[in-house]
Amino acid sequence: MAYDEENILLMTPGPVSFHPRVYRAMSRVEYHHRTPEYRKTFAECISMMKEVMQTKNDVFIFAGSGTSAMEAAIANCVSNGDKVLNLINGKFSERWKEITETFGGKSIPLEVEWGKAIKPEMVGEALDRNPDVKFVTLCHNETSTAVLNPGQEIAKVVREHDKILIVDGITSVGGDYVYPDEWGFDILITGSQKCLGCPPGLGMIMVGPRAWDIIDKRERIPSYYLNIPSYKKEFEKGSDTPYTSSIPLVYGLHESLAMIIEEGYENRVKRHRRMAKAVREGTKALGFQLLAEKGHESNTLTAIKYPKEVEDGVFRKTMRGYGVLIAGGQAHLKGKIFRVAHMNLTAEREILLTLAITELSLRELGFKCGKGVGVSAAEEVFLR
Ligand SMILES: Cc1ncc(COP(=O)(O)O)c(C=O)c1O
Repeated sequence: MAYDEENILLMTPGPVSFHPRVYRAMSRVEYHHRTPEYRKTFAECISMMKEVMQTKNDVFIFAGSGTSAMEAAIANCVSNGDKVLNLINGKFSERWKEITETFGGKSIPLEVEWGKAIKPEMVGEALDRNPDVKFVTLCHNETSTAVLNPGQEIAKVVREHDKILIVDGITSVGGDYVYPDEWGFDILITGSQKCLGCPPGLGMIMVGPRAWDIIDKRERIPSYYLNIPSYKKEFEKGSDTPYTSSIPLVYGLHESLAMIIEEGYENRVKRHRRMAKAVREGTKALGFQLLAEKGHESNTLTAIKYPKEVEDGVFRKTMRGYGVLIAGGQAHLKGKIFRVAHMNLTAEREILLTLAITELSLRELGFKCGKGVGVSAAEEVFLR
């Protein structure tokens, strides 16, 4: 049977496949958001979100994709002319620069080659060169290149220089270790459709005390919908949101967060790390090379370089024909890499299937690779 759109395996870096429990929670008869029942659910969601984000700081949820939370971070913190050190090693870290400039900030870009990680020493040197920088932006897990930047070490340097650190944790929160309070992230944002296992449409932001000091002193915040103080005011008044809540998505998030907490933080991170290792070993055994710098590979997705014999469009179409959806590269990496995500529910079954279909597609396209070597390498990781 040709691939069935309704039953495709999403191995893409968001949206990912969701558990039936999440769909069931979303399909319940909708409450009104201005009711005690809904407010209770929403308050529980915020409290579970804090648990999953490993924070005691304030957390707010916006009806908007992850980028809404990125925009909220900049709009609420950065004033006209403020200098922002944007750490850039891919498409999503580059977005911080674009948003900074949109809100009148002066971007100081620190760019490294896509596929390489940002090193703490580079950040220290850039801050020494630019002492008047007020904020630093970081994409913890750069989804366009599958590079995990050293968030903890970078945060240490940023704190030593007494700057405010704004972090995108869209593909790390809920899948890898992220300890914002302990590490010193002042703002941490994430989105619903990746490791959190909920459909797209919710953006979350954690705001720490040092960020609040700045936000509270702003004369004017140039955003109406994403004005963080208004979210704080409404939540404190009665677990409410200033505007209509995304009711079904909040029910879905409530269920997916409950599932994350049931699994346990450590177990979940370890599972993601095990899956990542299996994908890395499996694809290397098939003859591929990884894009990410050694030692900085993401644990929630893997970016794999194409050998010159394999054409991106044809390869991914072949995979899709067998019911497995993977992602291509972005910007100048288009056609050069493909990306396989291992987020949320992904376990042995999905990884072995994806590697087997990868091999089948490659062989169908005439690429020479050993028989069963990808699956076998992954099995070794699982059995270890
Ligand atoms: C690291 C990272 N940041 C930001 C975004 C943008 O999120 P959204 O598409 O939900 O607005 C993504 C989405 O892929 C991402 O992976």
